[in-house]
Amino acid sequence: MIVARTLQEFLQARASFKDYSIALVPTMGALHEGHMALVKRAKELSHYCIVTIFVNQLQFDQNEDFARYPKTEEHDIKLLEQHGVDLVWLPRVGDIYPKGFATHITVDGPSLLWEGEKRPGHFSGVATVVYRLFSLIKPQIACFGEKDWQQLQVIRRMVEDLNIPISIFGVPIVRETDGLAKSSRNRFLSPEEHQKSALLYQVLKESHRRLLNGDAVSMVLKDAVENLSHHGFEVDYFNLVDGASLCKISEWQQNARLITASKLGSVRLLDNM
Ligand code: PAJ
Repeated sequence: MIVARTLQEFLQARASFKDYSIALVPTMGALHEGHMALVKRAKELSHYCIVTIFVNQLQFDQNEDFARYPKTEEHDIKLLEQHGVDLVWLPRVGDIYPKGFATHITVDGPSLLWEGEKRPGHFSGVATVVYRLFSLIKPQIACFGEKDWQQLQVIRRMVEDLNIPISIFGVPIVRETDGLAKSSRNRFLSPEEHQKSALLYQVLKESHRRLLNGDAVSMVLKDAVENLSHHGFEVDYFNLVDGASLCKISEWQQNARLITASKLGSVRLLDNM
């Protein structure tokens, strides 16, 4: 596995991959099995797999602790090597945002609600960095996790709207044995909170079952919020949306998605089904 740190090192390695298909997995590091599912999918889909590790300051707002984002570089590189990644690039800030950089990509539509409302500027930061990575790396394929369902839809929208010649693949959520979606934030849960967190998945599953059963959407959502609140979750939102536009829907439909952000202690857990 090639480990590139400068843009020059990266471009040199990238040039040796020419004529072969490349799948990109963009990450912010602190890697776990969720990220590795993306790597596995990328390797199935193409000849070469490139992973980037870049904690993108542009997608954090002032209240979020960019400086405290977990950094586990040595562990990450080892994990990627074990999973047969061909090239990992850890860009410097100046590689992604050179001096004078002044362009931002704003996707409306699927960005507007939920995380977009809660974290102003977040998806513009995500879209901008992903566009930069796409234009520097020029993969044919890129993999994103369904864990961040809204982010996946924002990327799909951008790629379609800007005619970017890259196929986007969504990869199903990887969960802990108790059902909690794997996330770099889970390390901030206390052991008791961690135990309690499994309820989020249980409630999603139960709501999903009831919706398929034909129960009224409003009742199912109300019960879910009540159940979670009763058990100490602070529910930001728990809703049924159109899976592509992220608009709220009041009746079950084919591409419907249950989405939630719920806080347990200081940790905000994102999940969907
Ligand atoms: P990060 O949080 O590091 O996640 C990188 C990718 O891994 C994302 O596509 C995310 O959805 C996926 N992922 C994380 N946990 C997962 C899980 N449990 N199951 C499946 N996939 C999972 O998302 C970002 O970084 C950034 O916003 C980024 C796209 C890299 C832009 O900076």
